[in-house]
Amino acid sequence: MKIAVIGTGYVGLVAGACFADTGNTVYCVDNDPAKIEALKRGEIPIYEPGLETLVKRSTAEKRLFFTTSTEEAVTASEIIFMAVGTPPLPNGEPDLRFLKAASEQVARAMTGYRLIINKSTVPIGSHQVVAEWMKPFTKYPFDVASNPEFLKEGTAVDDFLKPDRVVIGTDSDKVFEMMSDLYAPFVRQGNPILRMDPVSAEMTKYACNSFLATRISFMNELSQLCEKVGGDIELVRKGMTTDVRIGKHFLYAGVGYGGSCFPKDVQALMATAERYQVPMEIVSAAESANARQKKHMVSHVTAHFGKDLTARTFAIWGLAFKPNTDDMREAPAVTIIDELHGLGARIQTFDPVASENARKIMGTRGEGIRYCASAYEALENADALLVVTEWNEFRNPDFGRIKSLLRQPVIFDGRNIYDPAKLREMGFTYRGIGR
Ligand SMILES: NC(=O)c1ccc[n+]([C@@H]2O[C@H](COP(=O)([O-])OP(=O)(O)OC[C@H]3O[C@@H](n4cnc5c(N)ncnc54)[C@H](O)[C@@H]3O)[C@@H](O)[C@H]2O)c1
Repeated sequence: MKIAVIGTGYVGLVAGACFADTGNTVYCVDNDPAKIEALKRGEIPIYEPGLETLVKRSTAEKRLFFTTSTEEAVTASEIIFMAVGTPPLPNGEPDLRFLKAASEQVARAMTGYRLIINKSTVPIGSHQVVAEWMKPFTKYPFDVASNPEFLKEGTAVDDFLKPDRVVIGTDSDKVFEMMSDLYAPFVRQGNPILRMDPVSAEMTKYACNSFLATRISFMNELSQLCEKVGGDIELVRKGMTTDVRIGKHFLYAGVGYGGSCFPKDVQALMATAERYQVPMEIVSAAESANARQKKHMVSHVTAHFGKDLTARTFAIWGLAFKPNTDDMREAPAVTIIDELHGLGARIQTFDPVASENARKIMGTRGEGIRYCASAYEALENADALLVVTEWNEFRNPDFGRIKSLLRQPVIFDGRNIYDPAKLREMGFTYRGIGR
């Protein structure tokens, strides 16, 4: 099939590369010329494991093309995926400016029937809205269907190639058939392609992310209670996850959830519910618990060092909102660093891939933040280590070296990746989350 993907970001590039990998001809469009030029030179603008290999293979085979021209891509394609960003507005509703502009550009470029697929996470009812935006700009027939994306940054390629399920929201048999053919290579192990009406498909995406965010916030609230009553959230978690009704995923206490999806999608669901005057107390509580949790690690630091941190330097390991990505959107590290910096501390950070994006967001706060070239450099003369993102390389570090580089052997473990007893035995003051 011939496919255009409008928006070549974390979702669009992965989707485009995976569709091309199964033999389709794919045109990835972005209105950021620097991004497209880089991709044409074979440079991948984001960090996503496995993506570079796919992109290079399909580019070499002339199945994957990059362009800034929506017209070129739409003229050549039967199916158009919308994968532009839908970032949150200050009131929590998604900003649909990019989707609206892209819809008009696609409509203008049509030269016959086209199937338009909303892959961006969009408010419930957007399939109709996109159709209304397009109608004035084309005389050709088209369908708009919903196909929400469930990939996780860090494992996006694997998730796309082997999805748990594919959701297709359409009232048309013909559209469902086209989409089923397109996705058939990805569900050969029997994972379902679920057909539903477009509203339910749009809602499914928000439901999943809000539910996962709620699980995390539930564990984070429990972890704070554990700290007061003297329990260990890690043991509680194990006791819970062995119950098949609960399952084992997204039940880790930590520094709060971040990223481009959970915070935004939770807010968007709340905004929709408010418009329809339906109470969403659970989701709203998950959101406020998360805002509290992002600051919780700092309360551990001030409990140990006091509230005046002017003479203190802290090493921060991990900046990205989770491992295996360079995405800094809504990353808890930003809140933690801002809070510590606000109390006068100097910060030395290390992240294997996200430092450049972090610098774009935070800068150096007047030389208050240093971005180091290695994890151990960040420790030099620091008063404590804070582990904020659980990159694999932080899991089994040289604790002897850590101890010799730090001014004081103090570790705040925001992801509970270390064994408290072992660290205490080695002479560290250790503080995890909820233990
Ligand atoms: N990132 C994720 O993990 C994830 C997962 C599932 C769903 N989603 C959803 O997918 C959508 C895209 O997310 P993302 O993280 O890939 O965003 P992103 O910001 O990484 O990428 C969006 C891209 O669209 C481009 N763009 C904007 N307007 C355009 C236009 N008119 N024409 C061409 N290109 C245009 C931007 O330049 C940018 O490169 C969002 O709605 C998001 O909620 C994201």
